[in-house]
Amino acid sequence: MIVTLDGPAGAGKSTIARMLADRLGFAFLDTGAMYRAVTLAAVRNQGPWDDPSRLADLASRCEIEIVGRTVSLNGEDVSELLRTAEVTSHIHYLADNPRVRKGLVDLQRDFAIGKNVVTEGRDQGTVAFPTAECKIFLTASPEERARRRVMELRSRGEPISIAEVLDQQNARDQRDSARAVGRLEPATDAIDFCTDGMLPTEVVDRLVAIVREKAQRADG
Ligand code: DC
Repeated sequence: MIVTLDGPAGAGKSTIARMLADRLGFAFLDTGAMYRAVTLAAVRNQGPWDDPSRLADLASRCEIEIVGRTVSLNGEDVSELLRTAEVTSHIHYLADNPRVRKGLVDLQRDFAIGKNVVTEGRDQGTVAFPTAECKIFLTASPEERARRRVMELRSRGEPISIAEVLDQQNARDQRDSARAVGRLEPATDAIDFCTDGMLPTEVVDRLVAIVREKAQRADG
C-alpha cells in the first residue's frame, strides 16, 4: 500500500510522516531529502546555476540511497548536511528542472516496489504515485508553519525572526506552487488535513485511522 503525504514546507509533514510510517510498520520515504541531496552535489560543484542541462546531467550522476534516516550521496553519509540555508536557497534550481524531477520520481517509484510505503513530498499523490490507495494533503496556517520553523532553527542554534521566516516561506510556497512540473497541489482524490492546534500524536492517530479505513475498503 502507498500512502502519500504532500503539503507545503512547515506543515509538519516530515515528523508526521515518520511517525505514521513507524505506527503502520511501513517504509518511509523523504523525497525532499532527495532534492536536497542533488542540490548539495550542485552546491559543491558551484552549479552551473545558469545551465539546466548540465545541472540535470550532474543530478543524473548522483547515487542517492536512503536507508532509515540516513541519506547517502555517492556513498557519503550527507544526512546532516541537507538542511543548511545554502542548500535550501539553491533547491529551486534542481526542483524546477523537469529532467531532475523525472529522474527522482523514477527513483521514488523504484524505492516503493514491493513495499508498504509512506512517502512525503509535494507531488507524491499527483505525479509520483497517482494511483496510491491513500493520499493526504497536510497543511497548517502560514503563521503556525513559520512559528514551528523558527523553533526548529533556534534549536539548531540558527537564530532567526518570525518575519524573516515568513518571507522565505512565502517565497518558497510561491515557487513550489508555480513550477511547471510537479507543482505543490492536492491530488483531486487527496484528503485535506489541517494540523493547526494539533499535537503530532493527535494528527498521527487520526491519520492511522484514515489509512486503516482506506486499506479495509481496498481489501473489501
Ligand atoms: O520537504 P523539504 O523542505 O525537505 O523539501 C525541499 C525542497 O524540495 C522544497 O523546496 C520543494 C522540493 N521538493 C519537491 O519539489 N518535490 C518533492 N517531492 C519534495 C520536495
